[in-house]
Amino acid sequence: MSEQFYSDPKLYDRLFPGGEQAVSFYRAEADRHGGSVLELGSGTGHKLIPLASDGHPCVGVELSPAMLAEARRKAGERGVVVDWVQGDMRELDLGRTFDLVLIAANSLLHLHEANDLVDCFRSVRRHLAPGGRLVFDVFNPSVRMLARADGVRRRRDALSFVDTDRGVVHVDVAETYDAAAQVTRGSWYFSTESEADFMVAPLDIRSIFPQELPLLVGLGGLRVVERYGDWSRAPFTAEAALQLCICEPD
Ligand SMILES: C[S@@+](CC[C@H](N)C(=O)[O-])C[C@H]1O[C@@H](n2cnc3c(N)ncnc32)[C@H](O)[C@@H]1O
Repeated sequence: MSEQFYSDPKLYDRLFPGGEQAVSFYRAEADRHGGSVLELGSGTGHKLIPLASDGHPCVGVELSPAMLAEARRKAGERGVVVDWVQGDMRELDLGRTFDLVLIAANSLLHLHEANDLVDCFRSVRRHLAPGGRLVFDVFNPSVRMLARADGVRRRRDALSFVDTDRGVVHVDVAETYDAAAQVTRGSWYFSTESEADFMVAPLDIRSIFPQELPLLVGLGGLRVVERYGDWSRAPFTAEAALQLCICEPD
């Protein structure tokens, strides 16, 4: 797992400020399906805080206590009510159902074993109200990108950001791809001019290939009914960046 990567939520929020297109997409899905929303792997609340501010009763389930605490702080600061719960998306039983379940921003890819993914989809199935939907986004694996993961540490200029306490933070990443596990194993190095490698964190991310995705969803008792390739709902194709899936109970 990648707990250390999520140990500094403020750094996470600067690194991944949360895409507006993604928030708009999930807002539209919440309006389309109406009612209550459960997010699994809710992080610092990028998706759930806007949905709760739209008036949806929201529950966020998150493994990392640090991410959960930051989500709670941000929601409180904005005067938004969300029920934040520490839990594991593979073995959740809240004893209630929801109209919409979200798993956003590749959170599913922290589950590496096929059985973990199936257990997660079963968790979702238990929490879906009649007519409810699961909506999730994961990247579409590019074999060209996976083949470039040669273990060499390189700077990712596009990921540099400004931290209020530290100043400009540069990010280097070294990755290898474990083809048997379908997992990209990365080390992320965070540095400033004065403090090299002030944080070094592993981040291991699975790939879910397009043909296996509906089978895993199906083993969890769900069915993929729509799959898009980007936030504008363009059709899913080989070159698509995303697999943006809408699923219903089978
Ligand atoms: C990439 S972040 C996405 C956060 C949020 N969904 C967003 O859109 O910004 C993935 C989150 O999933 C959480 N996570 C990883 N494994 C989990 C698990 N088994 N159960 C619940 N949360 C998990 C991580 O701690 C992290 O906060």
